[in-house]
Amino acid sequence: QEAAVPVTVQAERPGARIERDIFGQFAEHLGTGIYGGVWVGRDSKIPNVRGIRSDVVAALKAIRVPNIRWPGGCYADEYHWRDGIGPQAKRTRKVNAAWGNAPEPNAFGTHEFMDFAEQVGAEAYVSVNIGSGTVKEAVDWVEYMTGDAATTSAGAERAANGRRAPWKVKFLGIGNESWSCGGAMTPDFYTDQMKLYARFIRNYHPDQREKMPGAMRRIAVGPGTGDTAYTEAVMKAWKTHDWAWNIEGLSLHNYTTGGWPVSYSSTDFGEKEYATLVKETLGMDGLIAKHSEVMDKYDPKKEVALVVDEWGFWAAPLPGTNPGFLQQQNSVRDAVIAALNFNIFARHADRVRVANIAQMVNVLQSMILTDGPKMVLTPTYYVHKLYLPFQDATFVPVDVGAGVYRYGDLAMPRVDAVAAKATDGKLYLSLVNLDPTRTATIEAKVAGSAATRASGEVLTGPAINSVNSFAAPDVVKPKPIAASVAGGVVSVTLPPASVTMLALE
Ligand code: AHR
Repeated sequence: QEAAVPVTVQAERPGARIERDIFGQFAEHLGTGIYGGVWVGRDSKIPNVRGIRSDVVAALKAIRVPNIRWPGGCYADEYHWRDGIGPQAKRTRKVNAAWGNAPEPNAFGTHEFMDFAEQVGAEAYVSVNIGSGTVKEAVDWVEYMTGDAATTSAGAERAANGRRAPWKVKFLGIGNESWSCGGAMTPDFYTDQMKLYARFIRNYHPDQREKMPGAMRRIAVGPGTGDTAYTEAVMKAWKTHDWAWNIEGLSLHNYTTGGWPVSYSSTDFGEKEYATLVKETLGMDGLIAKHSEVMDKYDPKKEVALVVDEWGFWAAPLPGTNPGFLQQQNSVRDAVIAALNFNIFARHADRVRVANIAQMVNVLQSMILTDGPKMVLTPTYYVHKLYLPFQDATFVPVDVGAGVYRYGDLAMPRVDAVAAKATDGKLYLSLVNLDPTRTATIEAKVAGSAATRASGEVLTGPAINSVNSFAAPDVVKPKPIAASVAGGVVSVTLPPASVTMLALE
């Protein structure tokens, strides 16, 4: 019999608030992420509200998606918002040159995106085009979204197109990956551009004027690797900014890939590939720490948020699919990857205040897969469900003495754990068993108090590459887990490669 793993929840050492925005999502015009996955059109036989599929909205509401980033990604720097407003029949029809040369009918434009976000109950995170657009185009777009219908022409045009009340834009992305697909800009060239956009884009919503508590947060392009050149340039500019402009966030993009070009299958893999990618995803911690250190140098009060607005597992495209559509399946391994990233974000909650998994539907590590009228929820969707109590909770550190999981030369913690004091007053403990071959029996104590009850759910599947499919949608789904409490000690046995969330009372 193996010794139990000692776990101590340091309830007397609470940390920062875990902003619910770290559970944000990303929906780009890419493959069937929007067309088919979200938008089916008003005349579709697939049940929809104003063209937006109802099954997808209901699923997303259930995981309380806090914000949705749109329209890209690389596509954002090719997007011209006027192509997507006005009568559907008159919209500009194009080719999506960023992604697979797919037809882009612009049927899903500003009104449809904002309707989608409102149906889901999420805030809007809109990225403006600084690559092939102009400052004026971006200024006009935000004025169109937020201007008053009675007193401004922009607001009146919006009203004429069906929406009288201004929308709120909580987050504004100033470009995307400007060091690469967004225009291959040097850090200095980017920061000069950024200042113009940050200076002249105004949000006219009465609750969102600059410096108001609910003001729009402007997010600058930041790093996509350990290279700190963009972080330095943007933060240096922020440090010396004057009244004329400001930013409130710095973006970080980091995918789990196994190396570029991507080659790892999302379905066909064994322990070697599992261990390689799980180990790689843990690198998110060091990456955040590295860029946070630079940010701390300029901004010790942590006024600027680190916004991890693209993260997740990027696999090789599923055989037979358009490689430009980035379609992949989603397995138990993805669930472990998602939970480990949430735990890392929670540990850095003082700096990481927004994050967006890539992407929401049918693209990369998605929550939802669709095929015509069919829909299936992925293991990653269920991780979001398990972590609901972490939304706006207070971070609580956890000590774990589980030792190491090894595969060949790869070594990593066997069990990863964080806790949070939730808004419902309860303490929640997340336990991830990284080892795909061994169970882990946990004996958890809460420092300073004695737990009397523990209950919760576990997410795993028959194998590390188990997936949910349209034919078998419930293979990887949370199930109740048996946890007992004696003398203030919570005992629970974690299955191999699993994610468990316990409520401790
Ligand atoms: O999410 C897919 C792409 O990855 C995004 O468009 C881009 O920003 C990143 O390179």
